[in-house]
Amino acid sequence: MNNKMHKIICTTLCLGMTLSAFAACAKTEGSAVSSEAASSEVTGAPAVSESSESAETSESAETSESSQQTDAKPSYTIDNIRQYLVGVDEPVELPDGSKKVLVNFDNAATTPALKPVMDEVDSKLETYGSIGRGYSVKSNISTEIYDDTRQKVLNFVNADPERYTCVYVNNTTDGLNKLASALVESKKDIVLATRMEHHANDLPWRERCKTIYAEVDEKGRIIYEELEKKLSKNKVKYVVVTAASNVTGYVTDVHRVAKMAHEHGALIIVDGAQIVAHRAFSMLGATPEENIDFLVFSAHKMYSPYGGGAIVGLTEVLDKHMPEFYGGGIVDIVTDNDVSFKEAPELYEAGSPNYPGVVGLGTAIDVLQEVGFDNISAHEQALVKRMIDGLKKIDNVVIYGDSDNISDRVGVVTFNFTDTNSSMLARHLSNIGAATRRGAFCAHPYVWRLMGVTDDEAKTYEGCDAAKTPGMVRVSFGIYNTEAEVDEFLELVKKAKQLAKEEYDSDETYMDIPLDF
Ligand SMILES: Cc1ncc(COP(=O)(O)O)c(C=O)c1O
Repeated sequence: MNNKMHKIICTTLCLGMTLSAFAACAKTEGSAVSSEAASSEVTGAPAVSESSESAETSESAETSESSQQTDAKPSYTIDNIRQYLVGVDEPVELPDGSKKVLVNFDNAATTPALKPVMDEVDSKLETYGSIGRGYSVKSNISTEIYDDTRQKVLNFVNADPERYTCVYVNNTTDGLNKLASALVESKKDIVLATRMEHHANDLPWRERCKTIYAEVDEKGRIIYEELEKKLSKNKVKYVVVTAASNVTGYVTDVHRVAKMAHEHGALIIVDGAQIVAHRAFSMLGATPEENIDFLVFSAHKMYSPYGGGAIVGLTEVLDKHMPEFYGGGIVDIVTDNDVSFKEAPELYEAGSPNYPGVVGLGTAIDVLQEVGFDNISAHEQALVKRMIDGLKKIDNVVIYGDSDNISDRVGVVTFNFTDTNSSMLARHLSNIGAATRRGAFCAHPYVWRLMGVTDDEAKTYEGCDAAKTPGMVRVSFGIYNTEAEVDEFLELVKKAKQLAKEEYDSDETYMDIPLDF
């Protein structure tokens, strides 16, 4: 039974209730979070503006709100943000026993924690109580912060609260699975994805219905004309696309895709995992046809290490469907024989929620907005350019994607050397103090295409030691990385490459892995 039918039953039952029962019902509902308990500390304010004037306003408001907080809140900029990231300048012990500050270029996987995020979570835990369930002042405070942060998330991506809701999820994978579970109604439904997708935005659809794909071109960019063609030829229900690739960093023109999808009667679902900490994102396009219907992202890629993330999606559509998970928090009334469900967002949040994750996400949004996405984007572009220029000077390098026109790339660069093995290279880089990632980055079909590995070839590596399967080395930048780190990394690469080459040349078991990808 779908949610609508449940609601009809609920309404019929309610109409049959006596007046006193109705009053009791209203009273119980009203007391769950009393308005008197609304705390002045609640963070329901609109997201921090990039203008210094409004930053100052919110600063002074915050200072007057909390008598205990005497230190003025610092302002965060692209130039000073590094000092607010935990551990990035702490030396760690390398395998040879020496100590070194790592060059951390693995930010596409996860980002280090922002100190203001940790501070805010610590402070909000002083008034932590159960969310939406308890009868206590602390429970009321926590519930209000939890609910008000939804508004902050909606503001962050320019989503009209009249049309969109914010559902908290564990991470992008969780959110996309929840959407797939809710929205797919039949094995025959058709979902159009691209060959650029992370497995998180491919496998949940593949598992549930017919999933077709638009190809990428030889540089790895989505072929929009093919998307359009596939939309014309198939009755597509959902177009699912990543906003930015975790392999090449390409930014998708999601509003163009939205227009195509809508013209063909489909809805668009965007994987925002690699965009939200790198570029400003808006659910609104230039016209209503260009609006995005669903966006999903993770907080741990936004400098908040407590897990969590969000689906921002059309409330009306979510209300028509049912969730993947059932349990407490998603119902109005349960009887022996019937259940009446709440609407979105609660409908999709069964079980006790992740409060630190929500507080962390809200604070990370504040900090990122204060630093400013124009600044973040310009900074990343400078790092990408410096990295690519430096790599090009090293013998036998292969850089994936377009290394000349980089304007549509976020801070990700993937590469190989044709004279050594990528897993050996990444291991030696790690040993001498540089954090990267190596492999196919949970986007196998895309990586195989970029490397020229056919499906049949890829299958021959099934069950192989991961280090002996084809792969690339990936560097990915965060807001705190510096040009000096890029220069240091390039020196480390030269050293690691030499070590990896020596190891490769002396290890016959690696000889059958092709190097000329
Ligand atoms: C493009 C993209 N989508 C989805 C995901 C999955 O994110 P999570 O692991 O936070 O669920 C990732 C993770 O790296 C990603 O890069």
